[in-house]
Amino acid sequence: TKQKLWGGRFTGKTDPLMHAFNQSLAYDQRMHAADIRGSIAYAKSLTKVGILTLEEETKIIEGLAVVGQEWVDGKFQIQPDDEDIHTANERRLSELIGPLGGKLHTGRSRNDQVATDMRLWLLDEVVEIEAGLVALIRVMVERADNEKDYILPGYTHLQRGQPIRWSHLLLSHAFSFNSDLERLRQLIPRISVLPLGSGALAGNPFLVDRNFLAKELGFQSVSENSLWGVGDRDFIIEFLMWASLTTTHMSRMAEDLIIYSTAEFGFITLSDAYSTGSSMMPQKKNPDSLELLRGKSGRVFGNAAGFLMSYKGLPSTYNKDLQEDKEPLFDVVDTVSACYRIAEGVIATIEVHPDKMRQALTMDVLATDLADYLVRKGIPFRETHHISGRAVALAESRKCQINELSLQDYKALSDKFGDDIHDLFDFEASVERRNAIGGTSRQMIERQVSVLRASLAGK
Ligand code: ARG
Repeated sequence: TKQKLWGGRFTGKTDPLMHAFNQSLAYDQRMHAADIRGSIAYAKSLTKVGILTLEEETKIIEGLAVVGQEWVDGKFQIQPDDEDIHTANERRLSELIGPLGGKLHTGRSRNDQVATDMRLWLLDEVVEIEAGLVALIRVMVERADNEKDYILPGYTHLQRGQPIRWSHLLLSHAFSFNSDLERLRQLIPRISVLPLGSGALAGNPFLVDRNFLAKELGFQSVSENSLWGVGDRDFIIEFLMWASLTTTHMSRMAEDLIIYSTAEFGFITLSDAYSTGSSMMPQKKNPDSLELLRGKSGRVFGNAAGFLMSYKGLPSTYNKDLQEDKEPLFDVVDTVSACYRIAEGVIATIEVHPDKMRQALTMDVLATDLADYLVRKGIPFRETHHISGRAVALAESRKCQINELSLQDYKALSDKFGDDIHDLFDFEASVERRNAIGGTSRQMIERQVSVLRASLAGK
């Protein structure tokens, strides 16, 4: 008769609802490969300390390879008593190789096993996520490099402020994602700490070589305290918080693009591939891709906050509450990966309308340049700001643009205005003047592009 792996001290049966409530196999089976890898390394470490013979080790590793292949082929038969990926794999191993399978867990606990699996699994996923992030930033940088000629109003408070290059706006979002890339890379050493060999909580009495295990599994370091090793999930919290921030950047970029795609702005058109229609209003083309990109940040931070609440207040070491780390983590990994791929496609296929951007450039966005003109003639900025404001008010009262005021009008505001004033009303010249590092001049756009390219290359 089948019994649970931990059934020895039990006489009563698990309530069926309790079994369902307790099981995690439904979702932690996606860590099957990490679990098998960890077990193979552990078997090797047991041989090194004389718990297994080389022959036994070979049999166990061959058995584990079969189990792993069953998962890959979708042929693994889940049994009603399987609780999680660890018990399922061990149960199947023993079916395949007999009682020898029962030697594998010597000195090991599911507590150090699950912490190891989670870290191994996440390290692989981080590589994928990093690739998706790099691909997104690359598309943004390529567009920015190709579309430097387009000038549009830059906004503060969603009010027209100063002219900027379209590339400058795209790159501003790319820099947010680039900081996410840096932060993601910085998480890796803290994920890459090996808990295996911590046992249930107190450490490993068979003196398995934990440095050997770390090397086998590609970990950068070994946990120095076994209680910490089995109880720590900071690496998951950090990843979830990282994901909350990157999806927040995503939502802010999406919001800019949603606004720019309205008929009222008309700066961009989303491709059909990333838009959807209305079931009632035939004319509609809705930016659903961008709205979902904007909305997903809520779901991601909800997962982060949710697990942090489960983590809070736990006593030392392993408690079953920690099983609640999995669904949020898996959901966030899937969500962030999907967001990067969709955003990459959206950005790559946007149609840009430089003519509409140009139409939105009213002359008042050069009012700062007008004030700066007088600064160059020696007047303190606080005064020139006021004079330029008076010019704006005058144009407004005459229902004209500030470049349509006469030289006499200007001279009446300040005798420092001269014939060269009308050269000022040039958007291209305005953006080119912003040539200090970080500015919107062509040269500074090129600088941003090369800084980001170096970062993408890992430099
Ligand atoms: N399924 C468990 C989890 O995900 C594995 C660890 C179980 N350990 C234990 N002592 N019950 O956290």
